[in-house]
Amino acid sequence: MAAPHRVKSVEDSIRDTEAPEHRLNKNLSALDLTVFGVGVIIGTGIFVLTGVVAKTQAGPAVAISFVIAGVVCGLAALCYAEFASTVPVAGSAYTFSYATFGEFMAWIIGWDLVLELALGAATVAVGWSGYFNQLLGDLGVPLPESIAGETATVNIPAMAIALVMTGILVLGIKLSSRITAVIVGIKIVIVLLVIVLGLFYVKTENFTPFVPPAEAGTPGGTAWTAPLIQLIAGFTPSTFGVGGIFAGAAIVFFAFIGFDIVATAAEETKNPKRDLPRGIIASLVICTVLYVAVSLVVVGMQKYTELSTDAPLAEAFRSVGLPFASGLISVGALAGLTSVVMILMLGQSRVLFAMSRDHLLPPALGVVHPRYRTPYRITIATGIIVALLAGFVPLGTLAELVNIGTLFAFVLVSIGVIILRRTRPDLPRSFRVPGVPVLPILSAAACLWLMLNLPAETWLRFAIWMVVGLIFYFLYGRRHSRLALGSGDLAGPRAGSR
Ligand code: ALA
Repeated sequence: MAAPHRVKSVEDSIRDTEAPEHRLNKNLSALDLTVFGVGVIIGTGIFVLTGVVAKTQAGPAVAISFVIAGVVCGLAALCYAEFASTVPVAGSAYTFSYATFGEFMAWIIGWDLVLELALGAATVAVGWSGYFNQLLGDLGVPLPESIAGETATVNIPAMAIALVMTGILVLGIKLSSRITAVIVGIKIVIVLLVIVLGLFYVKTENFTPFVPPAEAGTPGGTAWTAPLIQLIAGFTPSTFGVGGIFAGAAIVFFAFIGFDIVATAAEETKNPKRDLPRGIIASLVICTVLYVAVSLVVVGMQKYTELSTDAPLAEAFRSVGLPFASGLISVGALAGLTSVVMILMLGQSRVLFAMSRDHLLPPALGVVHPRYRTPYRITIATGIIVALLAGFVPLGTLAELVNIGTLFAFVLVSIGVIILRRTRPDLPRSFRVPGVPVLPILSAAACLWLMLNLPAETWLRFAIWMVVGLIFYFLYGRRHSRLALGSGDLAGPRAGSR
């Protein structure tokens, strides 16, 4: 019979990270965290999904979709910030939940995070491929549509970038903070270039209609009741109209994913309790402002019906006769998206590594390479799965699944804040979410609302994934975990895990 489960305490987890060999340098400031945050957040969301959502769901009102998604993320960010300032150990929602709620919730969140990280990496790889082909097109040698872009049968460049990044991660090559700063700089310059240069080419008539009328077949009801009607009638996301703005928000939510990754740097932050919430919230505010500005400029430059769904920002500049700017944007987007693919895949391999070290996954998976000191088996497995998904699944389908998984994690983290206030009121919290329990409840409800705006198939895929996870847990993890074997104090979430 398995030994009774013993839940690791917050203090245990913190102690784990304090052994000298696990101690990380504490040298990050709020500004460093903001730069890191903006570097992770800006990616396929703004570079690709702006065009997809404007063209198919929201029209020029995609800018409002960005505001809605930004507000939802802002609420969740406050909850993440309280968590991160309470449990300032390296890690993510997996580590937080292990430390505070125990193994079962940690498993649920860890399994769910695969949707955010591995699928997120695949989504960004598909976006990378769109810009890669746009650049080849600018050079006069585009790849055939069957092997690159949104309608490709097999997306070869997307697979290639995922596999190259896997190789880099296995070799343990880290982007130095200087290279990261350069890439973030390039990304921001490109985004500012789109805004400033694009402004000269905005035609006000492109803004009309700002909210295109709802299309026939769209479920009835107001913007507030439509998702509930969809829930009962079978989840058809709204196309245009006010409902389309919400459906669009549920998709462009993808553009904000990553602010939660800032929380993973808690242990390397000089003053995590003060700087972490500042870093998370500042990066979110900066991105929201940039996203709204970029989307307004792009739909102003090109009629929303004509936007590209592969590389809309670059294509908008080509459409106004600026191929040079188009090429520049593609190069910048490629650099920026590469770092996002890498960070998401790194995050994924570290979460799985932590899970296998806790024996929730077979420990053999977590073996570290003798020479490169990286969890190579997990990294390679992650890379192959990401490459297959990126090669064969369309961008929209991937993004929807990533979003539902991430929103679910946000719901759990928001509720977690309320629970932790009750179960451990004694823990010092330098950052406290104002208005508990109202604000975390609002955050959970807002995330749930966006989830409701995603299509039926996405819910079905999500449900299947989580059920598979539960089966795996009860058949394997629960019996083999360190807690089950009575050695829960030997290992657990530690430095380096996400
Ligand atoms: N927020 C990241 C992106 O848009 C994941 O690519």
